Amino acid sequence: MKFGSRPARSILAYQSKARVHIVDQTQLPFRVEERTLTTWEQCAEAIRAMRVRGAPLIGVTAAYGMALAATRDATDAALREARQALLATRPTAVNLQWALDRMARKLDTTDPAERADAAWSEASAIEAEDIETNRTIGEHGLALLRVLHEKLQRPINVLTHCNAGRMACVEWGTATAPIYLAKESGIPVHVWVEETRPRNQGLLTQWELENAEIDHTYIVDNAGGHLMQQGKVDIVFVGADRVSLKGDVANKIGTYLKALAAKDCKVPFYAAVPLSTIDVRINSLDGVEIEERAGDEIRLIRGLSREDRVIDLRLLDANVNVANPGFDVTPAKLVTGIITEAGVFTPKELTPFLKARMI
Ligand code: MRU
Repeated sequence: MKFGSRPARSILAYQSKARVHIVDQTQLPFRVEERTLTTWEQCAEAIRAMRVRGAPLIGVTAAYGMALAATRDATDAALREARQALLATRPTAVNLQWALDRMARKLDTTDPAERADAAWSEASAIEAEDIETNRTIGEHGLALLRVLHEKLQRPINVLTHCNAGRMACVEWGTATAPIYLAKESGIPVHVWVEETRPRNQGLLTQWELENAEIDHTYIVDNAGGHLMQQGKVDIVFVGADRVSLKGDVANKIGTYLKALAAKDCKVPFYAAVPLSTIDVRINSLDGVEIEERAGDEIRLIRGLSREDRVIDLRLLDANVNVANPGFDVTPAKLVTGIITEAGVFTPKELTPFLKARMI
C-alpha cells in the first residue's frame, strides 16, 4: 500500500549508508517530510520530539539508534551512554525498554569488532517482526469484525482513539490492521476517528484511513460516549503503550473515559498490542510512570494557515497553568480483550498465557 507515490513506511534504514529515514510526524498530515538520522543522538531527539511516536515505532527507532551508536563506537562505555540516553527519551511506552534490552542482549554477547553488523541485523529483525506481528494481530482482530458483521449484516462501526496505525508502527498498525484486512476481505467497516487532544494524533489516523480509502468520520474526543449511547459504535479498538500481566492498559490520555463509556453501553473494548507491549514484570499498572508533557501542547494548536503554512496558533497565554498527562490507565475490569499476535485474550486469560510462555 502507498501514500500517493510514497511507500507507506514510517521508517526505512540502510546499513550500507548508516542512515535511518523517518517521516517527521510533527509535520503530518500537513506535510510529508522525510528526515535522515545518522547518529543515535538524532534518533533520541526524534523520539523525544515525537517526530516518531507510537510504542512500536519508538522501539524500532531506538534499536536503530543503537545500530548507529555501534557503527560509530562499539565500546561498552559508548553503547552504555547511547542506551541510557535513548531509554530516557519517553517513559511510558514499554517497547522502548523492550527493544533496548533486546539490543543489549545481542551486543553484550558479541565481540566489539562484530557489534556494528550484529546491531544492524538485530534492529532490522525487530523492524521486520513488527510488520509480521501487526499483520497477525490484524487477522485476530478481523475475526472479531467478521463475527459482528455476520450478526449485524451491516457495516461495522469501529471507534478508535489516538493513532495506533501504521505511523505508530512500521506498517499496518495495531488497532488499524484488522480494519485494513476487513477492507481486503470485503467486510464493510466505518471508523469513528477521535481527535485526541492535545496533539491531535487522530489527524494521523484520518490521513491513513483516507489514503487507504476506508470509510471514516472524524469526531472530537467528547463525542465518543454519546455515539456509544446512540448505538453507533459496535466495537472499540485502541492500541497501548504498556499492558500489565493482569490486563491493565496504559494508552493515550482519554482512553479510560472511552472504556468507561463502552462498559456502560455494553460495547466491546479491545486493546490491540504486540506481546512486546506487555510488561511481564508487573501485575498491575498502579504507579506506572505517566509522561507529563509540555504545557505548550495545550496552549498552542498546530494547523495550516490560509497561505498553506504549518503554524501554531495560541489558545492560552504562556502563564496559564495547564496539566498535560500524556497517558491514562484503563483497568483490566473495563477491558473486553487484548488482541495480540498470539490470539485474543480476556484479561483473566492473559496472565496464565504469559506465565506459561515465560517458563
Ligand atoms: O504519545 P504517542 O503519540 O506516542 O502515543 C501513542 C499511543 O498512545 C498509541 O495509542 C500507542 O502507542 C499504541 S501505538 C500502536
